[in-house]
Amino acid sequence: TAMDHHQTAGELPPHVLIFPLPMQGHINSMLKLAELLCLSDIHVSMLISDYSHSRLRRHASIESRFSRYPGFRVATMTDGLPDDHPRAGERSMDIVMSLVRVGGTEFRRVMETTDALSDGGARRRVSCLIMDGVFSFAVPVVEEMGIPFLYFRTISACAFWANFCFKEVIEAGEIPLKGKDEDKYAYWKREDFDLPVTSVPGMEGYLRRRDLPAFCRVNDVNNPVFQTIITESKRTARSNGLILNSFEDLEGPILDQIRNHIPNLYPIGPIHTHLQARLVSKKTELPLPSSSFWEEDRSSITWLNNQPTKSVIYVSFGSITLLTRSEVFEFWYGLVNSGHRFLWVMRPDSITGEEYSVPEELDTGTKERGYLVGWVPQNEVLAHPSVGAFFTHSGWNSTMESVAAGVPMICWPYFADQTINSRFVSDVWKVGLDMKDSCDRVIVEKMVREVMEDKRDEFSERGVRFAELAKKAVSEGGSSYSSLNRLIDFIKSSV
Ligand code: UDX
Repeated sequence: TAMDHHQTAGELPPHVLIFPLPMQGHINSMLKLAELLCLSDIHVSMLISDYSHSRLRRHASIESRFSRYPGFRVATMTDGLPDDHPRAGERSMDIVMSLVRVGGTEFRRVMETTDALSDGGARRRVSCLIMDGVFSFAVPVVEEMGIPFLYFRTISACAFWANFCFKEVIEAGEIPLKGKDEDKYAYWKREDFDLPVTSVPGMEGYLRRRDLPAFCRVNDVNNPVFQTIITESKRTARSNGLILNSFEDLEGPILDQIRNHIPNLYPIGPIHTHLQARLVSKKTELPLPSSSFWEEDRSSITWLNNQPTKSVIYVSFGSITLLTRSEVFEFWYGLVNSGHRFLWVMRPDSITGEEYSVPEELDTGTKERGYLVGWVPQNEVLAHPSVGAFFTHSGWNSTMESVAAGVPMICWPYFADQTINSRFVSDVWKVGLDMKDSCDRVIVEKMVREVMEDKRDEFSERGVRFAELAKKAVSEGGSSYSSLNRLIDFIKSSV
């Protein structure tokens, strides 16, 4: 009611509602933002799906993890999908499209009624909304209530900027990239995929059509997913600002392009080290245990402890990638043939048609130099002295975590923004190699050797330099540090 919305002004701390896409990668970044705000005495409520809430609850609930912050709450809503929906692989986009359908009604219900937003019986007025990229259904609701809203896009600035320009890229005739019915590895041989993209300002000279976000690999630009991304990206400009998990010394020129359209830009990354830095400066003990959908297998660290310095390639394709048996085999042979050691995260649900089973040949065949696990504490792995490189799907969290740890990458982008992230890794930041559009044991072997042997010093040197710049960004006076302070000031001024 109107009274509820006005009663607390000036009396209680600001109260931010954070609303991520309910997927592991998005929730990871948004929970870090939640903790950063809690550290600045801001009350935070996280709005997540019932499904992700129960996944996170399996090991320890988010509520118990955040118990040291009395202003922290969780609210839940349905994502509109049946419980047994896989929510993985390409079908993870169903989560997005389902939320676009049911989100408006659900969000209004949450804002008007849910108990999770109340405190001791009295509703705490939400004073600011921070939400993910495709939730413009929330905008009329908060506008009606006079609540400012910001976006937090958990992808790279380069991916956001490319998405933002999709309309212009279509007008320039550079997409759609036809080929819907082709086998995905046919793209490798498509020469037209190597044509330059000229319609994304600031990326001329290194962006090819195959590097555009994988959403462009359609033969009809009128498909609903693509259209949703175009409209939702442009709508970001109508908000009170945009938060990104990036930093000036990494994506400065692209951030400047975005600023031409969205002047209130808050690049606060790498968000995980930013959080660590603030915890240290507040003399608060250790960061909260991470919030994973899967249990972290600590034997991975014990195994790493017994390996020589920088001898291991860490292999993980994030939380939603699905691999076919034949892809797994190409990677496996490539890794084994390279002669190097590897630690491979094989989620229980990550092989299509092979639910909960790692092929037996692979399990026995890797015993000597490889170690397979279901899920690891990734940041601890990346920081481990035994790790020499990261074979990754180029998800944005993984990329930032690798950059912050100074670990060179081999990129095998799977979908979405990952195809552009991997191009930046290989051709702009030059801290790794891009394997996109191929899955071949000979190439895997060659790239592993290149990163672990021939180019090792070159990549490590650049990697270490970026890691230093990342550290500087989140230290007192650094660009991300100042951005976060600006964000906190904005939130505190809009109670
Ligand atoms: C993705 C990507 O962010 C993005 O590219 C895409 O558009 C949508 O979401 P995901 O594929 O899971 O998420 O990748 P990533 O962003 O790398 O996030 C994975 C997270 O899980 C990372 O924070 C990583 O540290 C963590 N992780 C991964 C673990 O903690 N343990 C593991 O074993 C593997």
